[in-house]
Amino acid sequence: MAHLLVTGGAGFIGSNFVHHVVAHTDHTVTVLDKLTYAGNEASLAGLPEERVRLVVGDIADPGVVDPLVAEADAVVHYAAESHNDNSLHDPRPFLDTNIIGTYTLLEAARRHETRFHHISTDEVYGDLELDDPARFTENTPYNPSSPYSSTKAGSDLLVRAWVRSFGVQATISNCSNNYGPYQHVEKFIPRQITNVLRGIRPKLYGKGENVRDWIHADDHSSAVLTILDKGKIGETYLIGADGEKDNKSVVEMILQITGHPTDAYDLVTDRPGHDMRYAIDSTKLRTELGWTPTYGDFAAGLAATIDWYRENEAWWAPAKDGVEAFYASKGQ
Ligand code: NAD
Ligand code: DAU
Repeated sequence: MAHLLVTGGAGFIGSNFVHHVVAHTDHTVTVLDKLTYAGNEASLAGLPEERVRLVVGDIADPGVVDPLVAEADAVVHYAAESHNDNSLHDPRPFLDTNIIGTYTLLEAARRHETRFHHISTDEVYGDLELDDPARFTENTPYNPSSPYSSTKAGSDLLVRAWVRSFGVQATISNCSNNYGPYQHVEKFIPRQITNVLRGIRPKLYGKGENVRDWIHADDHSSAVLTILDKGKIGETYLIGADGEKDNKSVVEMILQITGHPTDAYDLVTDRPGHDMRYAIDSTKLRTELGWTPTYGDFAAGLAATIDWYRENEAWWAPAKDGVEAFYASKGQ
């Protein structure tokens, strides 16, 4: 049994990990989350109080962070400003949380010699052409495109430096696009599902040709737990489930599953600097640590996710109108 400090544990992927830890281990968890617009206490509902505690606070505040890191056996660091479109509108919070917040946690992990796992993204590698047979590996050079991905890249490099210079016991994982329940309606799949549920036409940026490599959030959580248990200190592991799909195909699947004509969507203003394609080669994680994903069938995972949004309107409805007003102001 161990005690984990999970930053950002009230967000989409962090809350999935907390549920996963409770279901599959006997660890206890402290969630440190600022409850920004993206954090939602309701995503942690139903978890046993004796195993999960929520502390509302900022990862960039050393007074909050230090005692929580001191009492933890390991830190699993999910907290971030996570949305590319927001980073194009107002980059500053991305620097404060993703860079200064990660620095603050690393300094505490260094002081208390605490095991540290850093959650990051495939976007640090930039993008690939549609017809490029290559996929990202742990050796792909960093080449981030957006304020979001550049601050995540910066945070990864801080972790690497704190390992090498100060001996912090850290690992890093870079995962592809997650889908599943409890994802904020600003993100692509929940936005389109909730649009359809509200009778609004889905909105595809540009021509809808961009490709993302989808993985179910449950599979991301099992990979992180595997790295926490068996990962080698100082190593980076890429997490992916061979789920490449172009955005147009995903929207057509949502329309088809919900019984609408598959061309009932709008093409809207493209994202500036829009990355074309992400693709992960997760061979290292699979062969060295023995991890395998369980969601092989994207259509089935998507259908279950649509059911979840249909049944949990109370969770997402409060954010929906504000998100759509923001996108409308950008012609999206
Ligand atoms: P999210 O936006 O849903 O959740 C982020 C959480 O962090 C929220 O609960 C928010 O309140 C909290 N937070 C933000 N700033 C904070 C601060 N200063 N102090 C404390 N808490 C703060 O994000 P997500 O999609 O769950 O992503 C979680 C992590 O996974 C991020 O590090 C992201 O870069 C990474 N990641 C996401 C994906 C994806 O597809 N969503 C893929 C790969 C990696
Ligand atoms: O690759 C991992 C990353 O995936 C994570 O690091 C990020 O935190 C996460 O937000 C996600 O980034 P993306 O920018 O790929 O995800 P998003 O859901 O914003 O968009 C997915 C794709 O869909 C992208 O090509 C943009 C497009 N899109 C998005 C929205 C919101 C649309 O076509 N229409 C939309 O309305």
